[in-house]
Amino acid sequence: MTPKKERERYCIIGNPVEHSLSPLIMNYLFQKYGLNAYYYKARVIEKELEKAVQTIRTLGVKGFNVTMPHKKTILRHLNELDGASHMIKAVNTVKNVDGRMIGFNTDWIGVKGSLELHGVRKVENALIIGAGGAAAAAVYALGQISRGVIYIINRTYENAVGIKHEFKDLKVEIKPLLLSKENLRRTTDDVSLIINATPVGMREWKSLVPPEFLRREIYVMDMVYRPLKTKLLMDAEKAGANTIDGLWMLIIQAAEAFKIWTGIKPDVVDLRKFVEANIDE
Ligand SMILES: NC(=O)c1ccc[n+]([C@@H]2O[C@H](COP(=O)([O-])OP(=O)(O)OC[C@H]3O[C@@H](n4cnc5c(N)ncnc54)[C@H](OP(=O)(O)O)[C@@H]3O)[C@@H](O)[C@H]2O)c1
Repeated sequence: MTPKKERERYCIIGNPVEHSLSPLIMNYLFQKYGLNAYYYKARVIEKELEKAVQTIRTLGVKGFNVTMPHKKTILRHLNELDGASHMIKAVNTVKNVDGRMIGFNTDWIGVKGSLELHGVRKVENALIIGAGGAAAAAVYALGQISRGVIYIINRTYENAVGIKHEFKDLKVEIKPLLLSKENLRRTTDDVSLIINATPVGMREWKSLVPPEFLRREIYVMDMVYRPLKTKLLMDAEKAGANTIDGLWMLIIQAAEAFKIWTGIKPDVVDLRKFVEANIDE
């Protein structure tokens, strides 16, 4: 008699993690594709990150997602990084291969995939608002599909400059700027794509972009997905622009993480339908 195979474990670590949609998404996928696995969330405070990775190793957890505030600090606890996470300097997915922890970044695929799904395969100039890990993932994604200028507008100018230095080898020109109405006016006039990579608009009716700076035919993507239609996206829609909400990025980055762990590429349109039916805004 062959021994019964133990149920595989996966998790997300972060702080806070209570509102994470990853358990809903991953457990749906494990069930849908008939895998004997489950996914749970673990609140991990900053000073216990190293211990948490060791526990994951000891328990034989097969893979995990990493969310705020550990996406950057996790790097020093991993054995290996894939090319993208090395460039972006942030990891959101880890695969445990016989105790060797391999870090990946799937956020950039979430950005690129969301754009592709909306028919955007090439971009001229683009504007990214924000200069954190999510903005870095967007820069990396645009580096694959843009040959124009990427403006990075940020509240703290030095952080925008930091992104320019980090991506000096990318084949795009990065122009860091301080967040101001004048810089927003000038740059929005010169781009075909705007991405909000700040938390502004999350559970609040606020936007950093004055509505009068939005115009027809451009694409506006918001990484925020609560609410699904943020003020920025509502203003963009009213101006006749094309809008891309943050749930697409969330779904596509999760699907990519699932593929890294299992080799299965999930149907993202079906996954989105499931998630939309199971979340309250
Ligand atoms: N949809 C998805 O799948 C997905 C994936 C990843 C992230 N996200 C979302 O993207 C957002 C950014 O994530 P992150 O990981 O990059 O965070 P992060 O590393 O903490 O960076 C946050 C960025 O937003 C700026 N910012 C924060 N509050 C601001 C405010 N009130 N006004 C203007 N700028 C502000 C910060 O500016 P300073 O440099 O001045 O601090 C920084 O550039 C979050 O809302 C996150 O939930 C979504």
